[in-house]
Parts: sequence; C-alpha cells; structure tokens
Amino acid sequence: MHVSASHVVVSLVENYPNYLIINLDKLDYCASLKNLETISEKQNYKFIQGDICEPHFIKLLFETEKIDIVLHFAAQTHVDLSFWRTLEFTYVNVYGTHVLVTAAYEACVEKFIYVSTDEVYGGSIDEEFDEASPKRPTNPYASSKAAAECFVQSYWERYQFPVVITRSSNVYGPHQYPEKVIPKFISLLHQNRKCCIHGSGLQRRNFIYTTDVVEAFLTILKKGKPGEIYNIGSSFEMSILQLAKELIHLIKKTSSESEMEYWVDYVKDRPINDLRYPMNSEKMHNLGWRPKVPWKEGIKKTIEWYRDNFRNWKNVEKALDPFPVTGHSHSLMNCRM
Ligand SMILES: NC(=O)c1ccc[n+]([C@@H]2O[C@H](COP(=O)([O-])OP(=O)(O)OC[C@H]3O[C@@H](n4cnc5c(N)ncnc54)[C@H](O)[C@@H]3O)[C@@H](O)[C@H]2O)c1
Repeated sequence: MHVSASHVVVSLVENYPNYLIINLDKLDYCASLKNLETISEKQNYKFIQGDICEPHFIKLLFETEKIDIVLHFAAQTHVDLSFWRTLEFTYVNVYGTHVLVTAAYEACVEKFIYVSTDEVYGGSIDEEFDEASPKRPTNPYASSKAAAECFVQSYWERYQFPVVITRSSNVYGPHQYPEKVIPKFISLLHQNRKCCIHGSGLQRRNFIYTTDVVEAFLTILKKGKPGEIYNIGSSFEMSILQLAKELIHLIKKTSSESEMEYWVDYVKDRPINDLRYPMNSEKMHNLGWRPKVPWKEGIKKTIEWYRDNFRNWKNVEKALDPFPVTGHSHSLMNCRM
C-alpha cells in the first residue's frame, strides 16, 4: 500500500470508527500490507485485493459496498519506469482512472478525490504554479496523470459529478517503497552503498512529510469544493545533490566534503528531468491547512523507520538495484525524484 494512502487509511480507520474504510489495492510490486498491520483487525476496516482496470469487478464493488467517498491513489508512479513501460502507465493511470470515475459516477458517490501530482505542470525555473496554470507534463508518468485529470474533470463539467483534484509535491516518510529517492538514498547508505544521482543532481524538488499530507487530505475531505483543484505543496525545496549530502551527513556522520563526495555516484540522466516544480498552495492555506513538520524532524523519523523496516517489502533489494526491472544496462533506472 502506497505511502500517503496507507497513512490516510490508518488515520481514517483510527479516527472515524463509525465509517467503514475499504482499501482497494492490486498489491503491485511496490505494495506492502505491513504498512497497515496496526489496523488490519479493526472492525471498520476492510481490505480488498483488486485491479482498477477491471470494469466488471469495479462495477460490482460499487454495487455491493455502499461507497460514499472515493479517494483515488492507485497508480503506476515510478517516473524512471514510465520511460520504459509507457503504455502500462497510460493503461493503469488513464484507463484505470476512467473505469473508477465512471463506476463512482454511476453509483452516485458523494465525493471523488483524484490524487494527482505537481509534475503535471512540467518544469519551471522561476514561474510559480497555481491551480490555473496550464498542464505541460514532460515525462510519461506526468502525462498519464494529466490525462487522467482530464477524464475526472470532465465528469464535473458534464454531469456536475462532485470531483476534487489534488496536486502534491514529493511526499516522504515511513512506508514508501525504496525506489523513490529519499528511501532509496537512505537504504543505500544503510547498506554502505553510494547514492546514485541523475545527471548533475542540480534538479530541485519540494518535499512534504507524510503526516502533513494526511492532514491535507482530511481537510479536502471536509472542505474541498466540488470541481476544484488544490495544490498540496511545501516551501521546503532542495536539490537532489543537497539531499544526498544531507542524508550522508546524517547517516555517515560526516561533514567533510571529500567524504561526502565519496558516497555519491553520478549516473546518466533521464531523457528529461524537470528542474523544479514550485507551487503556490494558497488555496489550501485558505481552507486552514499548512504543512507543520519541519524537515529535520521528518527526515530523522524517516531514517529511523528504514533502519528497522527496510524488509517490509518482498524483493525489496530490487528497488536498490541500478537496473531493477527491465534488466537493461541503463542507468536511467536508478532513482525516482
Ligand atoms: N509519492 C509521491 O511523492 C507523490 C507525489 C504526488 C502525487 N502522488 C500520487 O499519489 C498516489 C500514490 O503515490 P505513491 O508514490 O504512494 O505510489 P506507490 O507506487 O508507492 O503505490 C501505488 C499503489 O497503487 C497500487 N496499484 C497500482 N496499480 C493498481 C491497479 N491497477 N489497481 C489497484 N491498485 C493499483 C499499488 O499496488 C500500490 O499500492 C499516486 O496516484 C501518485 O501519482 C505521489
């Protein structure tokens, strides 16, 4: 189960005992039910293994369970992989979303929240994106998320079906499969291996801690307006090279430039790697939400969690392998940012 979604599910199950929370997941290579162990026996929680790309199954699910609200996180998310498995990303992210939103509409769901990404805006040097900024995705993952947004939004335009779209910065924290950049670097360093950096490492990303994202979704559930899009961003931004050095400093306990350089391995860049995704999240601030967890606190908790829980996933070693999935001898496969 994915990073922010597993935390949202745990929070909903624990804090809303009068609601039944159904978690639908295909249990793909990156999923781990261990992330949900604390709630697995709760009366108001139900796990269903299933695929959003199966229309008959999804239709039946809406017919048999009385579902009021849908929070749609399920997706293919590893950007590097999206260059190699482009059609699979389109299939799951676009077709799967279309299947889900259609079934939710037919079942008269009260709210459908589609979890999208800051990457739909494409890269920027100094333009700050707000929700009205055009979508200019540059990689296949972002393109599939942007296309899926169009399908979701069209249900609002056509039928006034109450959809809400969120676009968030990079999430970090416990529960994240170590193919993503922060848990990947942490896990590599824990195993005395070097951090692999795409290109120069000067590309910058905004990071937001998982509990802040949970708060954002609870806010959207209560106050998000139908037909609206909300950026869920943080002002905390650093380059991937800075990130690697920060993690080396914290894990290897060194501030020496030459020692830090030792733990960095520069590899060939992706075909395209957006420079930044600066976002304005004023619309969320107006709903009363702001990120609260300082980087120092969030990253300390994350490092500690991966020390004890790295083996929560089957075949997790593959996530750290420079060529984990395709077997191609190509450094593009190294890290998602
Ligand atoms: N991680 C981030 O930094 C980030 C940032 C912005 C937006 N998002 C969005 O948040 C969502 C979750 O991201 P993540 O990084 O936690 O993802 P992840 O890749 O860790 O998890 C994706 C989950 O979706 C499930 N899944 C995949 N295909 C499915 C299918 N066909 N049917 C049912 N389940 C399926 C997988 O089993 C897995 O549990 C995604 O929609 C992603 O686009 C993530």
